[in-house]
Amino acid sequence: MKKYQGAFIKNDREIACLREANRMVANILDAIGDAVVPGVPTMRFEEIARDMCASYKVKPAFLGYCGYPYATCCSVNEQVVHGFPSPRLLEEGDIVSVDMGVVYEGFVGDAARTFPVGQVSPEAHRLMQVTEESLYVGIEQARAGNDVYAIGAAVQAYVEAAGFNVVRRFVGHGVGAKMHEKPEVPNFKPGMRGLTLQNGMVIAIEPMVTIGTYEVDILEDKWTAVTRDGKWAAHFEHSVAITHDGPRILSISDRGLNRQTIGS
Ligand code: MF3
Ligand code: CO
Repeated sequence: MKKYQGAFIKNDREIACLREANRMVANILDAIGDAVVPGVPTMRFEEIARDMCASYKVKPAFLGYCGYPYATCCSVNEQVVHGFPSPRLLEEGDIVSVDMGVVYEGFVGDAARTFPVGQVSPEAHRLMQVTEESLYVGIEQARAGNDVYAIGAAVQAYVEAAGFNVVRRFVGHGVGAKMHEKPEVPNFKPGMRGLTLQNGMVIAIEPMVTIGTYEVDILEDKWTAVTRDGKWAAHFEHSVAITHDGPRILSISDRGLNRQTIGS
Protein backbone atom coordinates (compact mmCIF):
# COMPACT_ATOMS: atom_id res chain seq x y z
CA MET A 1 0.00 0.00 0.00
CA LYS A 2 1.42 3.36 -1.06
CA LYS A 3 0.82 6.42 1.06
CA TYR A 4 -0.10 9.92 -0.03
CA GLN A 5 -0.16 12.70 2.57
CA GLY A 6 -0.73 10.02 5.21
CA ALA A 7 -3.65 8.39 3.37
CA PHE A 8 -3.26 4.88 1.99
CA ILE A 9 -3.61 4.21 -1.71
CA LYS A 10 -5.18 0.78 -2.17
CA ASN A 11 -4.41 -1.55 -5.05
CA ASP A 12 -7.06 -3.53 -6.94
CA ARG A 13 -6.79 -6.55 -4.65
CA GLU A 14 -7.21 -4.42 -1.56
CA ILE A 15 -10.19 -2.64 -3.05
CA ALA A 16 -11.70 -6.04 -3.93
CA CYS A 17 -11.40 -7.04 -0.25
CA LEU A 18 -12.97 -3.77 0.84
CA ARG A 19 -15.78 -4.32 -1.63
CA GLU A 20 -16.43 -7.79 -0.20
CA ALA A 21 -16.37 -6.51 3.39
CA ASN A 22 -18.82 -3.77 2.47
CA ARG A 23 -21.06 -6.12 0.50
CA MET A 24 -21.45 -8.16 3.68
CA VAL A 25 -22.16 -5.04 5.73
CA ALA A 26 -24.81 -3.92 3.22
CA ASN A 27 -26.41 -7.38 3.25
CA ILE A 28 -26.52 -7.23 7.06
CA LEU A 29 -28.13 -3.79 6.92
CA ASP A 30 -30.72 -5.14 4.45
CA ALA A 31 -31.60 -7.94 6.87
CA ILE A 32 -31.78 -5.53 9.80
CA GLY A 33 -34.00 -3.21 7.76
CA ASP A 34 -36.39 -6.10 7.16
CA ALA A 35 -36.59 -6.58 10.94
CA VAL A 36 -37.42 -2.96 11.78
CA VAL A 37 -41.05 -3.05 12.93
CA PRO A 38 -42.92 -1.55 15.89
CA GLY A 39 -42.34 -3.70 18.99
CA VAL A 40 -38.90 -5.05 18.10
CA PRO A 41 -36.00 -4.44 20.54
CA THR A 42 -32.90 -2.95 18.97
CA MET A 43 -30.97 -5.87 20.49
CA ARG A 44 -32.58 -7.99 17.75
CA PHE A 45 -30.46 -6.08 15.20
CA GLU A 46 -27.34 -6.95 17.16
CA GLU A 47 -28.31 -10.64 17.04
CA ILE A 48 -28.90 -10.48 13.29
CA ALA A 49 -25.53 -8.80 12.77
CA ARG A 50 -23.66 -11.33 14.90
CA ASP A 51 -25.42 -14.30 13.30
CA MET A 52 -24.62 -13.08 9.81
CA CYS A 53 -20.99 -12.38 10.75
CA ALA A 54 -20.77 -15.97 11.99
CA SER A 55 -22.20 -17.36 8.77
CA TYR A 56 -19.91 -15.15 6.67
CA LYS A 57 -17.00 -16.18 8.94
CA VAL A 58 -16.01 -12.55 9.51
CA LYS A 59 -15.45 -10.48 12.63
CA PRO A 60 -17.59 -7.50 13.54
CA ALA A 61 -15.40 -4.39 13.30
CA PHE A 62 -16.90 -2.35 16.15
CA LEU A 63 -16.97 -5.01 18.89
CA GLY A 64 -14.07 -4.19 21.21
CA TYR A 65 -13.01 -1.13 19.20
CA CYS A 66 -11.84 1.40 21.83
CA GLY A 67 -13.83 -0.76 24.24
CA TYR A 68 -17.12 -0.48 22.31
CA PRO A 69 -19.20 -3.42 23.63
CA TYR A 70 -21.37 -4.36 20.60
CA ALA A 71 -21.19 -5.26 16.93
CA THR A 72 -23.76 -2.62 15.96
CA CYS A 73 -24.64 0.92 16.91
CA CYS A 74 -28.41 1.41 17.20
CA SER A 75 -29.34 5.06 17.74
CA VAL A 76 -33.00 5.96 18.21
CA ASN A 77 -34.61 9.36 17.56
CA GLU A 78 -32.52 12.05 19.36
CA GLN A 79 -29.59 9.62 19.56
CA VAL A 80 -27.18 10.62 16.80
CA VAL A 81 -24.60 7.81 16.74
CA HIS A 82 -22.96 5.13 18.89
CA GLY A 83 -26.18 4.13 20.68
CA PHE A 84 -26.10 0.70 22.32
CA PRO A 85 -28.46 -2.00 21.11
CA SER A 86 -30.87 -2.63 23.97
CA PRO A 87 -34.08 -4.35 25.09
CA ARG A 88 -35.89 -1.08 24.38
CA LEU A 89 -38.83 -1.79 22.08
CA LEU A 90 -39.12 0.43 19.03
CA GLU A 91 -42.43 2.24 18.67
CA GLU A 92 -44.39 3.23 15.61
CA GLY A 93 -43.08 6.62 14.46
CA ASP A 94 -39.53 6.18 15.81
CA ILE A 95 -36.48 6.31 13.58
CA VAL A 96 -33.46 4.11 14.21
CA SER A 97 -29.96 4.57 12.81
CA VAL A 98 -28.00 1.34 12.51
CA ASP A 99 -24.23 1.45 11.92
CA MET A 100 -22.31 -1.77 11.25
CA GLY A 101 -18.82 -2.85 10.28
CA VAL A 102 -17.02 -6.12 9.54
CA VAL A 103 -13.44 -7.18 9.02
CA TYR A 104 -12.96 -9.46 6.00
CA GLU A 105 -9.45 -10.70 5.15
CA GLY A 106 -8.04 -7.86 7.22
CA PHE A 107 -10.13 -5.14 5.56
CA VAL A 108 -12.90 -3.14 7.17
CA GLY A 109 -16.36 -2.53 5.72
CA ASP A 110 -18.39 0.29 7.29
CA ALA A 111 -21.88 1.59 6.47
CA ALA A 112 -24.99 2.96 8.18
CA ARG A 113 -28.64 3.72 7.45
CA THR A 114 -31.56 5.26 9.28
CA PHE A 115 -34.79 3.24 9.15
CA PRO A 116 -38.36 4.39 9.82
CA VAL A 117 -40.36 2.34 12.32
CA GLY A 118 -43.78 1.92 10.73
CA GLN A 119 -45.29 5.22 9.71
CA VAL A 120 -43.17 8.23 10.75
CA SER A 121 -44.03 11.94 10.86
CA PRO A 122 -43.53 14.02 7.70
CA GLU A 123 -40.71 15.87 9.48
CA ALA A 124 -38.91 12.64 10.40
CA HIS A 125 -39.30 11.36 6.86
CA ARG A 126 -37.91 14.61 5.47
CA LEU A 127 -34.97 14.39 7.88
CA MET A 128 -34.11 10.90 6.65
CA GLN A 129 -34.57 11.93 3.03
CA VAL A 130 -32.35 15.01 3.27
CA THR A 131 -29.67 13.04 5.12
CA GLU A 132 -29.65 10.24 2.57
CA GLU A 133 -29.63 12.69 -0.33
CA SER A 134 -26.78 14.64 1.27
CA LEU A 135 -24.72 11.45 1.34
CA TYR A 136 -25.02 11.15 -2.46
CA VAL A 137 -24.30 14.87 -2.86
CA GLY A 138 -21.09 14.26 -0.89
CA ILE A 139 -20.21 11.10 -2.83
CA GLU A 140 -20.45 13.09 -6.05
CA GLN A 141 -17.42 15.11 -4.85
CA ALA A 142 -15.35 12.01 -4.06
CA ARG A 143 -13.15 12.37 -7.14
CA ALA A 144 -9.41 12.39 -7.76
CA GLY A 145 -8.07 15.95 -7.76
CA ASN A 146 -10.81 17.28 -5.49
CA ASP A 147 -10.06 18.58 -2.03
CA VAL A 148 -11.50 16.11 0.48
CA TYR A 149 -13.24 19.07 2.10
CA ALA A 150 -15.30 19.59 -1.06
CA ILE A 151 -17.35 16.64 0.18
CA GLY A 152 -18.36 18.29 3.45
CA ALA A 153 -18.85 21.65 1.79
CA ALA A 154 -21.40 20.08 -0.57
CA VAL A 155 -23.08 18.09 2.19
CA GLN A 156 -23.38 21.13 4.44
CA ALA A 157 -24.74 23.40 1.71
CA TYR A 158 -27.34 20.81 0.76
CA VAL A 159 -28.44 20.10 4.32
CA GLU A 160 -28.61 23.72 5.41
CA ALA A 161 -30.56 24.72 2.29
CA ALA A 162 -33.12 22.14 3.43
CA GLY A 163 -33.31 23.79 6.86
CA PHE A 164 -31.42 21.13 8.81
CA ASN A 165 -27.94 21.02 10.36
CA VAL A 166 -24.83 18.84 10.13
CA VAL A 167 -23.08 17.43 13.17
CA ARG A 168 -19.47 18.65 13.60
CA ARG A 169 -18.35 16.43 16.44
CA PHE A 170 -18.14 13.24 14.33
CA VAL A 171 -16.67 12.94 10.87
CA GLY A 172 -16.19 10.41 8.11
CA HIS A 173 -12.77 8.85 7.55
CA GLY A 174 -10.40 6.93 5.39
CA VAL A 175 -11.03 3.19 5.76
CA GLY A 176 -8.96 0.14 4.91
CA ALA A 177 -6.94 -2.25 7.06
CA LYS A 178 -7.97 0.03 9.92
CA MET A 179 -11.46 1.38 10.48
CA HIS A 180 -10.21 4.91 10.92
CA GLU A 181 -7.47 6.03 8.58
CA LYS A 182 -6.50 9.39 7.19
CA PRO A 183 -8.05 11.61 5.93
CA GLU A 184 -10.85 12.86 8.14
CA VAL A 185 -13.94 13.52 6.07
CA PRO A 186 -16.01 16.23 7.77
CA ASN A 187 -19.61 16.86 6.78
CA PHE A 188 -19.04 20.61 6.91
CA LYS A 189 -16.60 23.00 5.30
CA PRO A 190 -13.50 23.59 7.43
CA GLY A 191 -11.82 26.96 6.92
CA MET A 192 -8.71 25.56 5.27
CA ARG A 193 -7.52 23.28 2.51
CA GLY A 194 -7.50 19.52 2.99
CA LEU A 195 -5.86 16.58 1.32
CA THR A 196 -6.25 16.19 -2.43
CA LEU A 197 -8.13 12.98 -3.22
CA GLN A 198 -6.26 10.40 -5.32
CA ASN A 199 -7.39 7.30 -7.14
CA GLY A 200 -7.10 4.29 -4.85
CA MET A 201 -8.18 6.10 -1.70
CA VAL A 202 -11.18 4.66 0.11
CA ILE A 203 -13.26 6.83 2.42
CA ALA A 204 -16.35 6.41 4.57
CA ILE A 205 -18.69 9.35 4.04
CA GLU A 206 -21.23 9.58 6.84
CA PRO A 207 -23.37 12.68 7.26
CA MET A 208 -25.18 12.99 10.58
CA VAL A 209 -28.01 15.49 10.23
CA THR A 210 -30.17 17.12 12.88
CA ILE A 211 -33.51 18.89 12.80
CA GLY A 212 -32.31 21.37 15.44
CA THR A 213 -28.90 22.11 16.89
CA TYR A 214 -25.85 20.26 15.64
CA GLU A 215 -24.43 20.22 19.18
CA VAL A 216 -24.31 16.79 20.79
CA ASP A 217 -23.75 15.44 24.29
CA ILE A 218 -22.39 12.04 25.27
CA LEU A 219 -24.44 10.03 27.76
CA GLU A 220 -23.16 8.44 30.99
CA ASP A 221 -22.47 5.22 29.09
CA LYS A 222 -19.57 7.17 27.48
CA TRP A 223 -20.74 6.34 23.96
CA THR A 224 -24.28 7.36 23.06
CA ALA A 225 -24.29 10.75 21.35
CA VAL A 226 -27.58 12.64 21.66
CA THR A 227 -28.62 16.03 20.32
CA ARG A 228 -28.33 18.74 22.94
CA ASP A 229 -31.88 19.95 22.23
CA GLY A 230 -33.45 16.48 22.03
CA LYS A 231 -34.57 16.95 18.43
CA TRP A 232 -34.09 13.99 16.12
CA ALA A 233 -31.09 13.04 14.00
CA ALA A 234 -30.41 10.75 11.03
CA HIS A 235 -27.22 9.09 9.75
CA PHE A 236 -26.36 7.48 6.42
CA GLU A 237 -22.92 6.11 5.55
CA HIS A 238 -21.29 4.51 2.52
CA SER A 239 -17.70 3.39 1.99
CA VAL A 240 -16.54 4.80 -1.34
CA ALA A 241 -13.44 4.16 -3.47
CA ILE A 242 -11.93 6.98 -5.52
CA THR A 243 -11.39 5.48 -9.00
CA HIS A 244 -10.51 6.48 -12.54
CA ASP A 245 -14.21 6.15 -13.30
CA GLY A 246 -15.21 8.42 -10.41
CA PRO A 247 -16.66 7.51 -7.03
CA ARG A 248 -17.39 3.79 -6.59
CA ILE A 249 -19.75 2.95 -3.73
CA LEU A 250 -18.51 -0.26 -2.10
CA SER A 251 -21.35 -0.78 0.40
CA ILE A 252 -23.88 -2.17 -2.08
CA SER A 253 -25.80 -5.29 -1.11
CA ASP A 254 -26.78 -8.25 -3.24
CA ARG A 255 -30.16 -6.52 -3.63
CA GLY A 256 -28.43 -3.55 -5.22
CA LEU A 257 -27.90 0.01 -4.05
CA ASN A 258 -30.23 0.69 -1.15
CA ARG A 259 -32.28 3.83 -1.43
CA GLN A 260 -34.18 4.13 1.75
CA THR A 261 -36.12 7.31 1.18
CA ILE A 262 -35.10 8.66 -2.19
CA GLY A 263 -36.41 7.78 -5.62
CA SER A 264 -34.01 6.01 -7.98
N1 MF3 B 1 -19.27 4.27 11.50
C1 MF3 B 1 -18.71 4.61 12.78
C2 MF3 B 1 -17.37 5.24 12.57
O1 MF3 B 1 -16.92 5.19 11.49
C3 MF3 B 1 -18.70 3.45 13.65
C4 MF3 B 1 -17.72 3.41 14.78
S1 MF3 B 1 -18.51 2.81 16.15
C5 MF3 B 1 -17.32 2.21 17.18
O2 MF3 B 1 -16.76 5.85 13.40
F1 MF3 B 1 -17.92 1.80 18.18
F2 MF3 B 1 -16.69 1.26 16.61
F3 MF3 B 1 -16.46 3.20 17.47
CO1 CO C 1 -17.63 5.14 9.70
